[in-house]
Order: sequence, then structure tokens, then C-alpha cells
Amino acid sequence: MLEEIDAQVQQLMWDVRERTLQRMKKSYDVDLKTSYKDLVTTVDKENEQFLNQRLRQIDPSARIISEEGYGDRVDNLDGHVFIVDPIDGTMNFVMQHRNFAIMVALYVDGRPTYGYIMDVMNNELYHGGNGHGVYVNDQRLNTPANNGLHDSLIVVNAGLTLDGGHNIREIEKQARGLRMYGSAGIEMIYVITGRIGGYLSYLKPWDLAAGMALADEMGLVAKGIDGRRVNVLSSNLVLVATKQVTDDILELVD
Ligand code: IPD
Ligand code: CA
Ligand code: CA
Repeated sequence: MLEEIDAQVQQLMWDVRERTLQRMKKSYDVDLKTSYKDLVTTVDKENEQFLNQRLRQIDPSARIISEEGYGDRVDNLDGHVFIVDPIDGTMNFVMQHRNFAIMVALYVDGRPTYGYIMDVMNNELYHGGNGHGVYVNDQRLNTPANNGLHDSLIVVNAGLTLDGGHNIREIEKQARGLRMYGSAGIEMIYVITGRIGGYLSYLKPWDLAAGMALADEMGLVAKGIDGRRVNVLSSNLVLVATKQVTDDILELVD
């Protein structure tokens, strides 16, 4: 049954990609959410409605946590729970028309079971979980080398870097280099494929859920900076990284 759900959600990710590309050819509204740095568009809202409606058909018993308010009120992870980010990197979507993603995850009784990250402009669906490995489209990915901080590029969220807390400057200095792409989904893809050794950011459930499922499946680590396993339901300062980068960063972090 889970395999059947997986196949249908994969198809849904291709359908929502196509819809998004068609929608980008027309005009759409852009609104501010909490500040001028936090945008939402009609495409975010339409994608979420489309995804949630189809997910309810695919798995009627599941509950849905989603960013723009069309999901359910969910305060535990009992049973099947989908976690949906209809456009991740909305700022990039609006300003650059690239470097954004669409993300869905399925958690079963709290276990990150399947993750889906659609890199819309590169035509790549990263998906997998449940013991079957992680794939980009049909190609299976190998677990990245377990490099440490000196041998890795890292991504740190811009707010955290500007704020300078948690000894972040020292962590950045000790890395081989620092990168920022502005989409948790794209940044998570970079960790899963080994282009980046670690990603440190404040993440909400929909920013984290899919990447955490894929990272788990790859044998990578997703932890809070207190070194504990993250709770996907709460907003956290989260580190997704190789085991060695995790150890190196946790030793430096305040
Ligand atoms: C945001 C992006 C960004 C991250 C923010 C997220 P959104 O997601 O992933 O990279 O730094 O914390 O909120 O709002 O564009 O879906
Ligand atoms: Ca979003
Ligand atoms: Ca997001």
C-alpha cells in the first residue's frame, strides 16, 4: 500500500511541476506575509490547494500539514501525515524564476517515510525512502562521502549568518567555503548529492520534512544544534549534514 501511495505521489509531483511552469507564463499576485522579506504568491496558494486535494484522493486517511493554510490542524504525527511546501524559495521564484522547489513528505506514526523534492527548473525529482534508497528521477543516488568541515562547502541561512549567533562565524571559517541558495529544498538536494557537506538553518515543518526523510534514507544526519534528533513539528535551528560535519559543527556551536 505504501508503494502504491509512493508511485501516485511521484506522479503528482510531475503534475504540479507542469502546472507551475504553465502558471509562470501568466501573471500572478505577489503579497507580503510577515515582512518585505517574506513573500507569498497566488501560485503558492493554488499549488497547495491542488496538492492537498490530490493527496486526499491518494490517501484519504492521511492528515495534511501545509504552509499556506489549506491543510488540517495537526498537533501529533499519529497515522499518515503529509507535510507540504507548495513553493519553497518563493523569493527566488518571484525574483529569479529559478532555484525554488516543491516539497512533499509522508510521515507514518512519526517516521519520515517518503520525501519528494521537485527542482522545477532543472526538471529533477528527488524522491525515496522506506528502505528503497534515494533517486533523482530514475537514477539511484549513492551516499555522499563522509567528509569533515575542512573538506566541505556548507550552507548557512542568511539570517543566521548576519545575526552571527551560535559561534556561526567560526563554523563558517572552518569550512572549505560558504554558499547560500535561498531554498531549503534546493539546499537539501545539495546535501543529499554531496555538493554541500552541511546545511544549517531555522526550519519550519514544511521546510524540513522532505529533506529529513531523504537525508535519513541516505545515512546522513538531521539534528538540532543541541545535538538531539529534531522534532519535525516544531520550528528548529536544524543541521542536515554528513556524520563528520555534524560532529565538527556540534563541537564548535554555542
Ligand atoms: C524559505 C526558504 C528559505 C529559508 C526560509 C524558508 P519559503 O521557504 O526555504 O531558504 O531560509 O527559512 O522559510 O517561505 O520560500 O517556502
Ligand atoms: Ca513555501
Ligand atoms: Ca519553505
